Amino acid sequence: MKVFITGGTTGIGLELARQYLADGHVVGVCGRDLTKLPQELKDKLKSYQLSVTDKKSLDEAISDFGRDGLDIVIANAGRSVGVKEKMADWSKAYDVMDTNVYGVMYAFESALKIMTSQKSGHLVAISSVAGFVGLAGAASYSASKAAVTTFCESISLDYKSDNINVTCICPGFIDTPLTKQNNHPMPFLMSASKGAALIRAAIERKKLRYIFPWQMNFLMMFLRILPRKVYYFIMSNQTLNFTKS
Ligand SMILES: NC(=O)c1ccc[n+]([C@@H]2O[C@H](COP(=O)([O-])OP(=O)(O)OC[C@H]3O[C@@H](n4cnc5c(N)ncnc54)[C@H](OP(=O)(O)O)[C@@H]3O)[C@@H](O)[C@H]2O)c1
Repeated sequence: MKVFITGGTTGIGLELARQYLADGHVVGVCGRDLTKLPQELKDKLKSYQLSVTDKKSLDEAISDFGRDGLDIVIANAGRSVGVKEKMADWSKAYDVMDTNVYGVMYAFESALKIMTSQKSGHLVAISSVAGFVGLAGAASYSASKAAVTTFCESISLDYKSDNINVTCICPGFIDTPLTKQNNHPMPFLMSASKGAALIRAAIERKKLRYIFPWQMNFLMMFLRILPRKVYYFIMSNQTLNFTKS
């Protein structure tokens, strides 16, 4: 299989790349800084240095990688604001939306050019449980992931007749360079290798949406169905902070 992963230089994306390679697949990754790639993987991967916010560069990379076919595109690249605060820095918030939402859309648009003509393919986005509710201190991150999750649901309906599968992955806390900076409790934290293995299994099963771990799924679904006044009361007095995933 040919698998292209955005944001494959660290964390979940890198672990997915490592596992797909180990199983003998052809893997392409992109990231803004390819020097982060582990030395032992550099020769095995096809890598592209670019930002997913640069539509033209991403399109050229996916077209190049998918020249003779493309099976899976995983739109994984993402960022968060990283602090629990009001929307003090609006430029960071725009950047989060740009990377997390447009980065996924650009990747899907480019992949679909190939997949619709070959009448097969699988689009995957790494969203987050943070998109199920509006988390305090994470307005842009929560909103960006809500957009990705809903976008995936629509796209899965739109491209069903083209034999294209869509999977939206909504992880809880995964131990990556991103979450290593967190100084708050991270309930049900999971290793990146275990997270990637679960994500791959969900892709293989062609799940429409995969939320994990189950405890986080349960918690977020509970928060989502609460009357909003009750949610507001609980979260205004929260001790847990989910904002940095
Ligand atoms: N870790 C968690 O607990 C968790 C939970 C839920 C969802 N997620 C989501 O999972 C995805 C991966 O996160 P992670 O935890 O693995 O974070 P990470 O370790 O920080 O990795 C992020 C990856 O995205 C790349 N990236 C960021 N901005 C980019 C851009 N503009 N263009 C190209 N590549 C870019 C980074 O590479 P460069 O720096 O080289 O560009 C890196 O490879 C994100 O979408 C995140 O929101 C993570």
